[in-house]
Amino acid sequence: WGQGPVVAVDGPAGAGKSTAARRMAERLGFLYLDSGAMYRALALKALQHGVDLRDETQLLHLLDMTRIELDGAGHQKPLVLVDGQDVTRLLRSPEVNASVSVVAGFPRIREEMVRRQREMSRAGHVIMDGRDIGTYVLPSADLKFYLTASLEARAQRRLQDLTGMGFPADLAELAEEIRHRDALDSERAVGPLKQAPDAIYIDTTDMEVDHVVDMMLSIYRQRVES
Ligand code: CDP
Ligand code: CDP
Repeated sequence: WGQGPVVAVDGPAGAGKSTAARRMAERLGFLYLDSGAMYRALALKALQHGVDLRDETQLLHLLDMTRIELDGAGHQKPLVLVDGQDVTRLLRSPEVNASVSVVAGFPRIREEMVRRQREMSRAGHVIMDGRDIGTYVLPSADLKFYLTASLEARAQRRLQDLTGMGFPADLAELAEEIRHRDALDSERAVGPLKQAPDAIYIDTTDMEVDHVVDMMLSIYRQRVES
């Protein structure tokens, strides 16, 4: 017996973590776990229930009553279920974008999220993406990546995604939102966004997604499978 391989992918917003991690999981037959979706799910539920986003105790109470499922079964477009309801689309709203990093800044919220994330990845054969996966959630991961890209490229990608989903969006506003969220995520005391010393750094600014995925897979085959 023993645990299957675990891969951690971290980086700032719009770097292409979820896309690359999801495709890599598909190719390897692994489970893809989107840790950011869990923080988004809590932010969404707090907004829906009118919970004060500055009140950690209330948020923690809400989280204790909330079942968050990352349904990676169909790896193509994994669903996020909150208390059995599909909220996948709602997680990308501007309201959630504006609140998620606040919710994710609370130590006790993070502690509970991390507990759930470790539990979900216990059996291995997992790729998880986020901000603190390689540094804190899964420090002994078999392989770690740190993906990044220029702010402009990341905002441009978000713009395409949002307009494709029917959300109105503006490039300059998106760049500002991403910059602000990156700052909050990098500067917080607990679980900040940071490259793990043993993570492989990939700047995807001028790369196609397929190229990024091929590169990650070939590194995986060299370092983990051999
Ligand atoms: O997709 P995008 O990169 O915009 O964000 P995400 O991965 O869905 O994460 C949304 C937010 O959740 C981040 O901006 C962080 O504030 C928080 N998060 C976190 O604190 N720790 C993680 N491991 C993952 C996400
Ligand atoms: O998870 P994260 O916020 O890091 O990024 P994402 O949600 O995967 O969004 C990245 C978007 O940029 C997706 O629409 C990708 O198709 C696109 N993209 C990419 O991921 N990687 C590239 N090298 C180029 C574009």
